[in-house]
Amino acid sequence: MDLLQRLKTETRSHHERTEGVLRLMDAHLTPADYRRQLEDFHGLYLPLEARLAGPLSSLEPALELASRWKTPLLEEDLRAMGHDAGSIARLPRAAPLPSLTGLAEALGCAYVLEGSTLGGQLILRHLRRHFGPDAGVGTFAFVRAYGDRVGPMWRAFGAVLTQASQRAASDTFDAAVVQGARDTFDAFAAWMTREHDAPVRL
Ligand code: HEM
Repeated sequence: MDLLQRLKTETRSHHERTEGVLRLMDAHLTPADYRRQLEDFHGLYLPLEARLAGPLSSLEPALELASRWKTPLLEEDLRAMGHDAGSIARLPRAAPLPSLTGLAEALGCAYVLEGSTLGGQLILRHLRRHFGPDAGVGTFAFVRAYGDRVGPMWRAFGAVLTQASQRAASDTFDAAVVQGARDTFDAFAAWMTREHDAPVRL
């Protein structure tokens, strides 16, 4: 089984749990609920992406890191819903984060963040229908992510991941990638289900 297949199999229950903590597909989702979900995503993606940048830079330029960061897309959506630089800076940030000690763990984390763009296309169709054109919720930049390039971007990520695994040629490396992915899913679920403070005022 190649590493991508192994990741899918060995994190399946984590995916199911994570899907269960998201409210984006709720029948009664309001614009304020949607904004709060994006604020939570921001609180996790900002520090996680900052932590990934170092280890993943060794896979450049193949990885095309600059076009993969989702924090700018989240900030675009948050601004469309009334945030500015000041209120974005006051949003809570997730802690503790998965340790991501090396390239393998960082790749596992990136697998989770990149894979979420696949489900994003389904969520995008739902949100467009749910809110309609005049709800003032912006353009769904984060959920849309790469738009019609989701497939190619996912396959390119998979190719880089597979090459890194083949270069390392060790089960220890592959196991650390899976662990990084599981830890990321766990951090995600813990952050989304935490006791929330009062919302940041706009
Ligand atoms: C309502 C929420 C979600 C739904 C409905 C959803 C749905 C999906 C769907 C339909 C796929 C594509 C499966 C395929 O093409 O084989 C997928 C893949 C994936 N999703 Fe989600 N997802 C959700 C949330 C998330 C979140 C929040 C994350 C991570 C933070 C995530 C991580 C992944 C990963 C890593 C994959 C790739 C699985 C693989 O093929 O290896 N998903 N998801």
